Amino acid sequence: METMSCFICILLFLSILLSYFCSKKQKKNKQKQKMLPPGSMGWPYMGETLQLYSQDPNDFFAKKQRRYGDIFKTHILGCPCVMLASPEAARFVLVTQAHLFKPTYPKSKEKLIGPSALFFHQGDYHTHLRKLVQSSLSPKAIRKLIPDIEELAISAMESWAREQVINTFHEMKKFAFEVGILSVFGRLDEKYKEELKKNYCIVDKGYNSFPTNLPGTAYNKAILARKKLNRILTEIICERKEKRLLERDLLGHFLNFKDEKGKTLTEDQITDNIIGVLFAAQDTTASALTWILKYLQDDQNLLEAVEAEQMAIYESNGFGNRSLTWAQTRNMPLTYMVILESLRMASIISFTFREAVVDIEYGGYLIPKGWKVMPLFRNIHHNPEFFPDPKHFDPSRFEVAPKSNTFIPFGNGVHACPGNELAKLEMLIVVHHLVTKFRWEVVGQQRGIEYSPFPVPQQGLPAKFWKEVLNHQI
Ligand code: HEM
Repeated sequence: METMSCFICILLFLSILLSYFCSKKQKKNKQKQKMLPPGSMGWPYMGETLQLYSQDPNDFFAKKQRRYGDIFKTHILGCPCVMLASPEAARFVLVTQAHLFKPTYPKSKEKLIGPSALFFHQGDYHTHLRKLVQSSLSPKAIRKLIPDIEELAISAMESWAREQVINTFHEMKKFAFEVGILSVFGRLDEKYKEELKKNYCIVDKGYNSFPTNLPGTAYNKAILARKKLNRILTEIICERKEKRLLERDLLGHFLNFKDEKGKTLTEDQITDNIIGVLFAAQDTTASALTWILKYLQDDQNLLEAVEAEQMAIYESNGFGNRSLTWAQTRNMPLTYMVILESLRMASIISFTFREAVVDIEYGGYLIPKGWKVMPLFRNIHHNPEFFPDPKHFDPSRFEVAPKSNTFIPFGNGVHACPGNELAKLEMLIVVHHLVTKFRWEVVGQQRGIEYSPFPVPQQGLPAKFWKEVLNHQI
């Protein structure tokens, strides 16, 4: 009897303890719930994934911002997310409190690029690699590439002029890849280049496909091609080491690197970062270039003004007899503003992802640990408070510098784009040679936008190019 009453007492005590903890947890959950940003989490598990992918993603974000304000929650691709549409909030996540938000990518994508690539990391490893990438893409380093980039641009345009109609985006991708190769390896043997191109193309296709690793799927082919890329890169690295070709290109920087303890980079770290840079450099630059052509084509007066600016430089270079100089590329004010306005209008990287590493409070709301956090670059670039009449393409708005943190096409903070100077240089060079020597016409009605996954004009902007024969060339 005594044992029985003792047992009941323990049971009673345990159930009181349990209900105490449960109610405390519930209270805590309720408090969390209360403090979460406004917004809707959609259906169980699916969240609002369908709503996002069944319309222009930018409309989805813009509608949400109108309804809930600059900070709102949603649930996409199985993850609860907080979206941030103000410059202050983007700065909070990317700059001032960057250590509280880690980069986050789906594992399937990480595997294709290579898990040691710098954009998946934080801390010392990231800092070391970033320094190497940044110094090989600094203005001092890239100014030497001008004649080679010019050669690539002219040869690409001449090949377009030989075709009936080209898919502008696809052609720009080829060009951007060649420039990527140039910045990583300097001049590279044609046989290696072809192998890299062929296999990278397969990886690229798989990256944007559904990640099922079954034989025959695009993802599986990409995994196999990624392994081949490793073999090719290892061969190039061995050759460079044997011939002691440790130049000041990115590969040279990687091979020369030693940390404070004298440790060098492993071969996997080098190959993952080479693929990472090629990946970061290609679609972004190609998409921006395609939009520049579209915006110029849509405004013939602007095109004429850009032509006049570039023609003056072309003439001063003996009608193309001399290469562009770095100083000339720094003094193309109208063309430069066209580039900035294209980056704003198109906002190629509409947003980025981070993950909260602890519970964080921002603007009176809770961002729970493990939630994805997305600074919405495009919403900031299209906010009429910072860019009046934001849907109107107007390069002259950049005659006055934008308010700080409102123009961030290359991101901000520790992960901001180290390739931004190279990307802008490529665009200036392409526009220079295009408007001084070629003409183009967009084929068909071009209104829509496609996501591949970056926004590009419909069907990649089909266009016809031809060489303009100027009087002095006859
Ligand atoms: C118009 C062209 C480009 C745009 C709009 C662009 C945009 C960006 C943005 C927004 C980020 C930051 C992403 C984030 O914070 O999550 C980034 C990172 C990066 N970009 Fe670019 N990019 C361009 C071209 C290039 C080029 C040409 C290269 C290299 C040759 C490059 C290499 C990188 C690398 C390596 C990172 C990762 C940096 C890190 O995590 O520390 N990008 N880019």
